[in-house]
Amino acid sequence: MIRVCLSGLGKTGREIAKVILKQKNMKLVAVVCGSTSSKVGKSLSDIIECNSDIIIDSEDNLKQVIFKTKPDVVVDFSKPEATIRNAKLFSKMKVNIVIGTTGFSKFALKKLFVLTQKYHNAICYAPNITLGVNVLMLLTHLAASILNNYDFQITEIHHKNKKDAPSGTAIKIAKEIQKGINSTGTSISEDDVAISAIRAGGVVGKHEVMIVGEDDKIEICHESFTRKAFALGAVRAVEFIYGKTGYYEMSDVLNLQKVLENYLEKEKSKKINKYSNYRRNEIEKSPVNVV
Ligand SMILES: NC(=O)c1ccc[n+]([C@@H]2O[C@H](COP(=O)([O-])OP(=O)(O)OC[C@H]3O[C@@H](n4cnc5c(N)ncnc54)[C@H](OP(=O)(O)O)[C@@H]3O)[C@@H](O)[C@H]2O)c1
Repeated sequence: MIRVCLSGLGKTGREIAKVILKQKNMKLVAVVCGSTSSKVGKSLSDIIECNSDIIIDSEDNLKQVIFKTKPDVVVDFSKPEATIRNAKLFSKMKVNIVIGTTGFSKFALKKLFVLTQKYHNAICYAPNITLGVNVLMLLTHLAASILNNYDFQITEIHHKNKKDAPSGTAIKIAKEIQKGINSTGTSISEDDVAISAIRAGGVVGKHEVMIVGEDDKIEICHESFTRKAFALGAVRAVEFIYGKTGYYEMSDVLNLQKVLENYLEKEKSKKINKYSNYRRNEIEKSPVNVV
């Protein structure tokens, strides 16, 4: 049974709490909010429809909460400043962390990596937690490594209350495009990939990559309809990181490279079989007389 603590009970945190409460191999043991949050001291069942008797705690009591509830993994969907502050304590206390929060500086991300090296816990940094958006990233990487003379343009749309822009996922897609193009010998930086960020209404999350050449165009698009998609990704990340040490990303959790490797391996053996069948047929058609 994986003991899970949730940090942040906003729009996404609430969905994650609901999904974790339904998992047979997980137990939600604590929920933590910011010290000024009106949710502190309330029962979780007052915030979401559930049978849980968890009382929401404050970030100020974090150390005691961890001592008392002994989580194996914390799932963090709060805000970047809180994540960085709390990650140090979680790491020191050997708790693994799945970080869905976005909006970190490069320096802050480095800090998270250093924590895992210093305290030998595990962190999964997942600004892109859904399976669907990870498939989009893989497809985009492949397209970039084939169409290196095309123009790549990312557009992301999120609800008007999302604080960071562009989204962590859009930045990650730009990196995949850069990696794909650079693998062909043409050199670009991730800043060379244009990103347009739109904040409007209640859009849960949409990322679109336009790949435009002189004569044709490809569009790859992913849209999350509900926040349950994020919660399902978080559950997979919790299962993956349980009992591990080190720094990971969602690509490690989903292991999509393996799917690609298997595909290439199958194609290769299909080709070899086709060639040997052809050789056998040719030899049967015109057998060579060995004197
Ligand atoms: N990785 C992904 O795929 C993905 C998907 C969705 C969202 N996100 C990211 O996840 C984060 C949260 O998103 P959201 O849409 O749920 O935002 P939200 O509704 O604003 O929720 C953020 C929550 O964090 C809480 N919080 C503030 N300070 C805290 C602290 N010190 N400790 C613990 N909790 C604290 C807030 O509590 P109070 O309101 O009670 O003060 C609020 O409920 C954002 O950075 C967002 O970009 C990532």
